[in-house]
Amino acid sequence: MTKKQAPKTAKLIIGDQELDLPVMVGSEGELAIDITKLRSTTGAVTFDPGLGNTGACTSKITFLDGEQGILRYAGYPIEELAQQSNFVEVMWLLLHQDLPSSTQLEQFNHDVTHHTMLHEDLKRLFASLPKAGHPMAVCAAAVGALSTYYQKAGPQTAEQNWSDAVRLLAKMPTIAAYSFKHSIGQPFMYPRNDLSYSSNILHMMFATPCGKYEPNPVIARALDLLLILHADHEQNCSTSTVRTVGSSGANLFASVSAGISALWGPLHGGANEAVIDMLTSIRDGERSARQFMDLAKQKNSGVRLMGFGHRVYKNYDPRALILKQACYDVLAELGRKDPLLDIALELEQIALSDNYFIERKLYPNVDFYSGIIYKALGIPSDMFTVFFAIGRMPGWVAQWLEYQGDSAARITRPRQIYMGPNKRTYTDVSKR
Ligand code: ACO
Repeated sequence: MTKKQAPKTAKLIIGDQELDLPVMVGSEGELAIDITKLRSTTGAVTFDPGLGNTGACTSKITFLDGEQGILRYAGYPIEELAQQSNFVEVMWLLLHQDLPSSTQLEQFNHDVTHHTMLHEDLKRLFASLPKAGHPMAVCAAAVGALSTYYQKAGPQTAEQNWSDAVRLLAKMPTIAAYSFKHSIGQPFMYPRNDLSYSSNILHMMFATPCGKYEPNPVIARALDLLLILHADHEQNCSTSTVRTVGSSGANLFASVSAGISALWGPLHGGANEAVIDMLTSIRDGERSARQFMDLAKQKNSGVRLMGFGHRVYKNYDPRALILKQACYDVLAELGRKDPLLDIALELEQIALSDNYFIERKLYPNVDFYSGIIYKALGIPSDMFTVFFAIGRMPGWVAQWLEYQGDSAARITRPRQIYMGPNKRTYTDVSKR
């Protein structure tokens, strides 16, 4: 709907009160009813568990249309970026909502390459944590700890925020790789400035001081693709967390550390690890694909088809479509076969012709095929969500910066509908 066609107001009738609420129109024609004066005028609030009908902010970063399966970063279709761009350029795009000139890209590439080292003392943080600790917990701790190294007095300035942003984007791969090296008891590998962003991640993950390691360009390009596809997804659970924490005035490192924790959950970024566990259990004969699907349809089984369904996409997730093809390409280029891909295809086929999934509009999401590629790249399954976090970092940072610069932004503080006991009188414990 265009701005001209859109209604100017929406009428709300509560009892004998009638209210004209202003209607906003987004740049892609989506309508929003502005209820900012609702409570002060009527005393009522809205009820929207999970906030599925609530626009908590305006944003110029990412557009997605879940019904049509469209995803664009600042207007650029994800399919074009996946094919023609690279992750560092996409980072800039999200941060500035425009593509960089060649000089800007060169400078930015230089900046995110030359801020990759961690303070030597921070290594002790990794050493102090159990080797078996989940790397998402380690990364959340290390990112939160960065604020102790970059503390500032007084209010945050735009220049300080930008330098924090560059540092975080540069250091996240180092933190991720250190969390892995710590878990397997290998020495940390310092970053290499002669490598691209993605090749350097592979170097820090897989090189050792004992031998030569040259990152495979096929693997580096596949990793770059994965990072591009994960770079932003508007107001999802972890990004809303980053904005919420940032709304209190907390610094970027503290806000993003909370976002990493939110991403960890199996209903969000942790699903990519859960998908591989699910596929492996079917491969190992715990139950057949069909038996698994039957279980996933039973509400009280506690089992869900992991990597399927999405709060916003009610159509094929465009990222899943790209990743499905990438699975074939990467396995072919590396000359490998993976039975887990066949199982995933079988599950997808069953789901797409099963009424339960059709009626609920459940399609593969980004996590359904990503794990198979990570596995082919040699990335261990408990690091999958960490790689999601490296990819999502520019989105979190861009959304945090946008929030800081938004004159309409207020501390996030939802209301509730209280359903507890009414007023009662305290009785002493001896009389209860
Ligand atoms: N398997 C089986 N049933 C499902 C699945 C699934 N994967 N997903 C949703 N459903 C069913 C629900 O039981 C519900 O059924 P009902 O209407 O009969 O009660 C209906 O579909 C709607 O599901 P909700 O949970 O209400 O949808 P919501 O939008 O709250 O949840 C979510 C979305 C969390 C992604 C859900 O689809 C899910 O749990 N998927 C599996 C986990 C997953 O892949 N997460 C990654 C999401 S992408 C990301 O975060 C990067």
